[in-house]
Amino acid sequence: MADMQYLDQSDAVRERLDRLKSRDVILRVNKLTKKFSAGKAQVTALDEISFQTHRREFLCIIGPSGCGKSTLIRILAGLETLSDGQVLLDNCPVNGPGRERGMVFQGYTLFPWLTVRKNVMFGLRMNNVSRFDAEKQADEWLYLIGLEKFADYYPHQLSGGMKQRVAIIRALVNKPRILLMDEPFSALDAQTRARMQAYLLEIWKKIDITVIFITHDLDEAIFLADRILVLSAHPGRVQEMIEVPLERPRRAEHFGSAEFAATKARLEALIHPPKGEADEEEAYPSVPLLTDVRDSVE
Ligand SMILES: Nc1ncnc2c1ncn2[C@@H]1O[C@H](COP(=O)(O)OP(=O)(O)OP(=O)(O)O)[C@@H](O)[C@H]1O
Ligand SMILES: [Mg+2]
Repeated sequence: MADMQYLDQSDAVRERLDRLKSRDVILRVNKLTKKFSAGKAQVTALDEISFQTHRREFLCIIGPSGCGKSTLIRILAGLETLSDGQVLLDNCPVNGPGRERGMVFQGYTLFPWLTVRKNVMFGLRMNNVSRFDAEKQADEWLYLIGLEKFADYYPHQLSGGMKQRVAIIRALVNKPRILLMDEPFSALDAQTRARMQAYLLEIWKKIDITVIFITHDLDEAIFLADRILVLSAHPGRVQEMIEVPLERPRRAEHFGSAEFAATKARLEALIHPPKGEADEEEAYPSVPLLTDVRDSVE
């Protein structure tokens, strides 16, 4: 059998992706450029990024550290301005935060002084939902993620996985069109992380939501995504949009499949180019002697 290529798609996968691409475009990013000023100089963080996502798509974005992934998602969230180009959500320009977009960040971002229930209620109350209705809805969401017994706990009394589950529903309560996630599971241990990935796919399946998920973990991107947008570093540019050739529902066995290996090989070639092309030496200078260490440990 010839080697599996990441571009080879089974009929089922091709049909699924065709269906996905025939759905409405929810988010359109046109030649988005972001420049930061650093003193007198200007640094281009993102250079003419263009892509689109369709309704109920699960899009992952990966790229080397510092390529502008967080900047991009913050612009999509309306938390950061763009220098040039356009971001359209349902054909309307994005120029500020809005309830059609929910956001989950990397760290644990629950309010420590509020109980779990009040954390979930927060966004609803901000949108003028009555206390009674907000409490009812918060309890329904907590039930959905199996944390109804923890409603009166404070965030510090929860495990990392529990906290991120609450952070996800907190972003979902206002029924956003799109869920923006910036490395939401990177602080979790490997086992919890795997469970959260499967769990997120379960939630995604049950509600009408488009997900944009940033990660630098190639396995995570392949396991979750319909398509993966690969960015290059300095400045961040689109390298490739990869269609993941795995069927759904995704299962742990997929990690060992030929399709998975072929996709990972392609991502690795894009993210970690052969030595010489990457300027790693510049990014990681050798460590000078910090103290008088006397004898060697090697
Ligand atoms: N507020 C800012 N002012 C100036 N430069 C910034 C600012 N925010 C980000 N940058 C620069 O923009 C570039 C992209 O940063 P960003 O945090 O978006 O990268 P990233 O891909 O999310 O990195 P990581 O994988 O480490 O999270 C970096 O060179 C960073 O120094
Ligand atoms: Mg980042």
